[in-house]
Amino acid sequence: MASVKLGSTVIISYLLLLATICNAGLSQQYYQSNCPQAAAIIKTEVNKILRNNPNLVGAFLRLQFHDSWVNGADGSVLIKSTATNVAEVGAFVNFQLRGISEIDQIKAQVEAQCPNTVSCADIIAVAARDATVFANGPYWPVALGRRDSRVSRAIDADTQLPFPVLRFSGLVQNFAAKGFSAREMIVLSGSHTVGHTHCNGIGPNLYNYTGQDSLTDTNPNLDPTFATSLKQTCPKGNTLNIVDMDSSPNTFDTLYFKKVLANQGDMITDDELIRGPSGPSIVQSLSQPASSFRAEFANGMAKMSQMSPLLAPNGEIRKSCQFIN
Ligand code: HEM
Ligand SMILES: *[C@@H]1O[C@H](CO)[C@@H](O)[C@H](O)[C@H]1NC(C)=O
Repeated sequence: MASVKLGSTVIISYLLLLATICNAGLSQQYYQSNCPQAAAIIKTEVNKILRNNPNLVGAFLRLQFHDSWVNGADGSVLIKSTATNVAEVGAFVNFQLRGISEIDQIKAQVEAQCPNTVSCADIIAVAARDATVFANGPYWPVALGRRDSRVSRAIDADTQLPFPVLRFSGLVQNFAAKGFSAREMIVLSGSHTVGHTHCNGIGPNLYNYTGQDSLTDTNPNLDPTFATSLKQTCPKGNTLNIVDMDSSPNTFDTLYFKKVLANQGDMITDDELIRGPSGPSIVQSLSQPASSFRAEFANGMAKMSQMSPLLAPNGEIRKSCQFIN
């Protein structure tokens, strides 16, 4: 028995060593030998960018969601469209996506110290975490070692990311397809505590709730006073006016959930969080100041950033994040 036990221990140790050598998975130590300062450079740059414009917290969080959700966390959201390819950035769901030039800025600093070493996909994941911490949100450890993809297609984004017209069951389905529960869907929607939205995503909530496309086709669940004031900011047909996600768009807090509970969701999908089974009780509990929202959000973001990552020898380390090498 003893020798069998020793044998399996030796084999397991050997496999772990092999895994480390072959970079078989993500790990926090991934850049320890060739760019130990990577995370520190990213943090310094993110903080610099956010001190200059704290509203960009939302840009970094949305970037992680939109990168990870589409064929995994592989930096594909950053790639520029070409004459022959409409990249993910050109998708409807990526309307007014922000933060790409800021990722370029971070990447330039990283490249200056560690050329051809750190992936754009890893930079997105670390920046989302650092931006959350900057906004007074929770910290989570980010495992590293994602590689950058050489493929980016708008159609993939528009078929994998949720549109802001989905009802509760559609949201649950969209997240289930990516391995996330209804509760995780609600927790991660709490990301809408930061940043802003353009009227484009709000329009259907005000003028096309049942597909009639009229001034009166307004979500009947909405607080009427709220709906009237939102209509002033977002007249029918307007797409580019801007609405803050909540009254503290640069701070990670629970005001978004309070707003949803008060029937003041900007998008149909914000309002829908309390229209499905268990939705109201989950949102109610997450909205409490001492709730588990922060811890659950941290877990959800860490899990999201590890969705089917591209691992060596697949993919590449892009030199410039918007361009395939
Ligand atoms: C549940 C389904 C979701 C839908 C339908 C949705 C849809 C949208 C839409 C339409 C916008 C407005 C974009 C604009 O007009 O500028 C937006 C913004 C945003 N979304 Fe979501 N979202 C969802 C979930 C999430 C999740 C899970 C995250 C991250 C964990 C997230 C993070 C953000 C952030 C931070 C912004 C603000 C962006 C900025 O300030 O530039 N969203 N979302
Ligand atoms: C309104 O909703 C219907 C049904 O969902 C859709 O086919 C139509 O394109 C929408 N109209 C506008 C202007 O968004």
